[in-house]
Amino acid sequence: MSRTLAILKPDCVRKELIGKVIGHIQSAGFKIAAMKMVKLTPDAAKGFYEVHKERPFFHELISYMTSGPCVPIVLEKDNAVEDFRKLIGATDPAKAEEGTIRKMYAENIQENIIHGSDSDENAAKEIAHFFSRKELLEINGWE
Ligand code: TYD
Repeated sequence: MSRTLAILKPDCVRKELIGKVIGHIQSAGFKIAAMKMVKLTPDAAKGFYEVHKERPFFHELISYMTSGPCVPIVLEKDNAVEDFRKLIGATDPAKAEEGTIRKMYAENIQENIIHGSDSDENAAKEIAHFFSRKELLEINGWE
């Protein structure tokens, strides 16, 4: 069993797609180990996306991620990171495969509905960004 971090981004919350998107995630076999709703501060968003700080889209990305509440979720499944990246699809919804969450619901490359960690190492860091150990439930006897 492994874990990944999903974030339902501000456009997902604004468009009232929380229930639909969580439905897809659960139908694909992921178990929810922790979940909350938060509004990121600029410093928290900058910390989360630090790897992109030199990229031309960084400033816009931070204003988008702080534009409203978002919903970080810890998910458990075998091969969680890779399987979740497949479920959400390519960063740019125009390039995402049919049936993926971004293809179905995302507007454009910036407002792309959902985040998924891209490696086990980053998943652990990103989970720690939002959740204390106490907040992580042990759904499938993981740990
Ligand atoms: P990235 O880590 O490359 O994508 P992913 O979310 O699929 O792991 O980029 C992080 C976020 O930055 C991405 O979800 C949306 C935003 N972004 C842009 O706004 N413009 C871009 O050209 C790229 C590559 C990303």
